[in-house]
Amino acid sequence: MSASYQKWLRDKLAKLEAIDCYSAGATPETVAKQIGISPSEIVKLNFNESLFVDRVRQAELVKELADEFDLRLYPEDEIPKFLAKLSGYIGAPENCLVVGNGSDELIDRVVRLFVDQGEVMLSFAPTFSIPKLCVKRQAGEYVTTPLLDNLQLNVKGLRDLFSDKTRLLYLCSPNNPTSTQFKMQDIETVAKAFPGIVILDEAYGEFADYSFVPRLSEFQNMIILRTFSKAFGLAALRLGYAVANPELSKVLSEKAPLPYPVSGFTLRMGSKMLENLDLMKKAAKELVAERGKLIKALNQINGVQAFDSQADFLLVNTQKPADEVNEQLLKRGIMLKKWGKILQYNNCFRVTVGLPEMNKKLIAALKEIQGD
Ligand SMILES: Cc1ncc(COP(=O)(O)O)c(C=O)c1O
Repeated sequence: MSASYQKWLRDKLAKLEAIDCYSAGATPETVAKQIGISPSEIVKLNFNESLFVDRVRQAELVKELADEFDLRLYPEDEIPKFLAKLSGYIGAPENCLVVGNGSDELIDRVVRLFVDQGEVMLSFAPTFSIPKLCVKRQAGEYVTTPLLDNLQLNVKGLRDLFSDKTRLLYLCSPNNPTSTQFKMQDIETVAKAFPGIVILDEAYGEFADYSFVPRLSEFQNMIILRTFSKAFGLAALRLGYAVANPELSKVLSEKAPLPYPVSGFTLRMGSKMLENLDLMKKAAKELVAERGKLIKALNQINGVQAFDSQADFLLVNTQKPADEVNEQLLKRGIMLKKWGKILQYNNCFRVTVGLPEMNKKLIAALKEIQGD
């Protein structure tokens, strides 16, 4: 190897090493091994997955698909076929819809297309972490303002940060990790004033009070992101979509992805879920009912505060230090997403709304840990 190649590679790898990556943390397998139980006994409430979707019926759909679908062929017509079905579900024309390999990939697409070096993505804190990673990879800047103490948008704080360098505004509503859906009027005010493109992430839209999709035509600068990973229970397949005006949709679907950005099998499975919409609707309804019960039960525990939610997870704050509570929960095989300090709340966790038996275990564990 030449010396110049060696030097180039060393410098390049050092630069790449400095890029932040997404880290999911411990897996159920590693936690189970540490405490000597089987992974199936782990109560996994750290990823906002919906376990309410009927797994048996979902597996039947996969089996049907295995018979119908020819894996040997490139998925040429699969996107238009899927979009025709999706259009009926979401109530937007097909030329306003773009599919992605999960909504994460669509966030990355928007950032790659619209943020150049030194340009800014604006958001608020705390929120979903992926947009920041994508912007940093583009050598862009990621600038935030804190949420208000009531977990709502700080409209003035955001507007004060608008400049001729702010190309994107990322608004996650309902917000991960606070679970709040922002006031419609606040999003409208910010989106109408923003001198760039607004990404409105509605990943948890099916569990929320409202969606901006019906109002999309009022916002020429808005890209709404949704996903099949949450309410539809297809997290493993990676299927997300964007809803935007035809001009932005065309660019998003044609100029950023490589051919066939979503597998044909995934698109067909998305169509199957749309053809069997009762599966998602029943699951979302059950989850929302269980969410109410969980909030109530958690708030009855001494030293535990659970906030209202419009998502499939809750924000929970404990009186005891988050590290200590987390350690105690892990010892009992319960995995939450530990956040620590959020605004004036020092010991926060993001807690997926699990199935009733999982939530019972969580409640019992927290009672024990809090000495209640
Ligand atoms: C707000 C938000 N957006 C997007 C995603 C990613 O969704 P997908 O699985 O479609 O990539 C998540 C996942 O947790 C999320 O919380």
